[in-house]
Amino acid sequence: MKQKVVNLIEIGIQDIYGISLPDTECYIEIPSNIELGDFSLPCFTLAKMLKKSPKIIAEELCTHLKDNNNDSMISDVKAVNGYLNIFIDRIYFINQIIADVFNVSYGSSDIGSGKTICMDYSSPNIAKNFHVGHLRTTLIGNSFSKIYSKLGYKVVRINHLGDWGTQFGKLIVAYKKWSNKKMVEENGIEELLRIYIQFGHEAEKSPALNDEARDWFAKMENGDEEALSIWQWFKDISLIEYERVYTMLNIEFDSYVGESFYMDKVPALVSELKDKKLLVESQGANIISLDEYGMSPCLITKKDGSSIYHSRDIAAALYRKQTYNFEKCIYVTGMEQKLHFSQVFKAIELMGYEWANDLYHIPYGLVSMDGEKLSTRKGNIIYAEDILNEAVSRALNAIQEKNPDLKDKINTAKKIGIGAVIFHDLSNQLIRDVHFKWDDVLNFDGMTAPYIQYTYARSKSILRKSHIDNTDVDLTYLTDDISYELVKKLALYPDIVKDAAVKFEPCIIARYAYTLSNLFNKFYHECRILSADDQIRKSRIVLVNAVQKVISDSMSLLGIECPEEM
Ligand code: ARG
Repeated sequence: MKQKVVNLIEIGIQDIYGISLPDTECYIEIPSNIELGDFSLPCFTLAKMLKKSPKIIAEELCTHLKDNNNDSMISDVKAVNGYLNIFIDRIYFINQIIADVFNVSYGSSDIGSGKTICMDYSSPNIAKNFHVGHLRTTLIGNSFSKIYSKLGYKVVRINHLGDWGTQFGKLIVAYKKWSNKKMVEENGIEELLRIYIQFGHEAEKSPALNDEARDWFAKMENGDEEALSIWQWFKDISLIEYERVYTMLNIEFDSYVGESFYMDKVPALVSELKDKKLLVESQGANIISLDEYGMSPCLITKKDGSSIYHSRDIAAALYRKQTYNFEKCIYVTGMEQKLHFSQVFKAIELMGYEWANDLYHIPYGLVSMDGEKLSTRKGNIIYAEDILNEAVSRALNAIQEKNPDLKDKINTAKKIGIGAVIFHDLSNQLIRDVHFKWDDVLNFDGMTAPYIQYTYARSKSILRKSHIDNTDVDLTYLTDDISYELVKKLALYPDIVKDAAVKFEPCIIARYAYTLSNLFNKFYHECRILSADDQIRKSRIVLVNAVQKVISDSMSLLGIECPEEM
């Protein structure tokens, strides 16, 4: 519908002034006050282009649209202080939007068709635990992947595992000295963490251990069989643990190609950098100087010639561009890696690759749990798995209390608990820190997943009782203001999805799902639905059906499932 309005305005401008307003769509506003119309065009940009007052332009366009209005869509047009306000016929609008909503692909678009996005997210470090920070990148990256897929992009979900680096040399030394096969098999990552920490303590006393570790890492870089088989084993063990978290979250990746894959691509990078006269030797290491850009240098190879996080990332970007020819490559990590990505992107730009502009680092704030308790494990590391399990068990308690007769308690608790954690992470701007308080996260009232899920379950329950499943109903009875407001809210959904993608902010969708739910609950409390007169009842049920569809679709873009009953 917005597109139709845009077309009419564009034709009007062309007819009267013989010019075209570039990107007309961007200028069209949706007034929050219903009295100012359904769509509004501020005429100030046109005023500058035409050197004419916005007030006069609005009036001229208004007269033109009125004279040429042979469409039942527009019920009125007004010119107010330089704004052209367009009123859409309510019934026309309602019919159109409801029909759109029941179209399978409502909210989708083809703006991404034929284009690829590489989404680099989650990317935990092998042999280290999957903590709340990694949980955040996982949830954010998953949501982006869903949002961009909805917009028609092909998304390549990449788990850029931290599976290479000197730490593996340390681990091999520590394993040989203070652990054994059985201990690792029994305790998994916990054992790897334990020996890694022990290595730190021991190396303080005997620094020669560091040389041993460097030697083992050098062996790895040179393809030594023993070193690589221990490394692969540690990797397999770690992945089993990470997979548990991914399964709980229902998250999959297209690629688990991590840092190790790029190790042998660094020599080619080094020669390219040399050819392009970008490489400088500094104390035996190879660097790219970024002084000019106010950044510390980007390290490419260390003294012993081995690759490093930065060079592996540059090699990865080159490889991805070549393999996927991405339109955008998006990296989701904590704020602390801002400099790292600035250096990497700058290096790629200096190499002469214009597509350096298509690389985006999306940083996010810290997660803290001050004063909150988790029931398992000790220490100050917050494990993602523990948080998810705790959320599920708390959700289960809430269900026992509120609805002890519910059929599928365990699965419902999973959806509620995990959904609550996801929503809590995604409902604020990414850059903001997240403070974790169970009472907030699992609150059934407020801007939370359980509140929205409850609203969804409520709508489903109405639908079950209504025994109407066709949507082919006369909607002329949906004339009250709240119903109309709800339909207008539903109409915003496609723009909300696009906005979240363009601004890299899933919270735009989270907040939308919340306000839609709020409005629905207002409708539910103020309008009779099942007990209304026949025609009104039918049309309201169709509206309920449309709302539940958009609630669950918007939540799914965040990676959250809505239970049918709760
Ligand atoms: N493994 C890194 C970490 O845990 C994140 C990797 C992000 N992706 C990348 N291409 N550097 O901090």
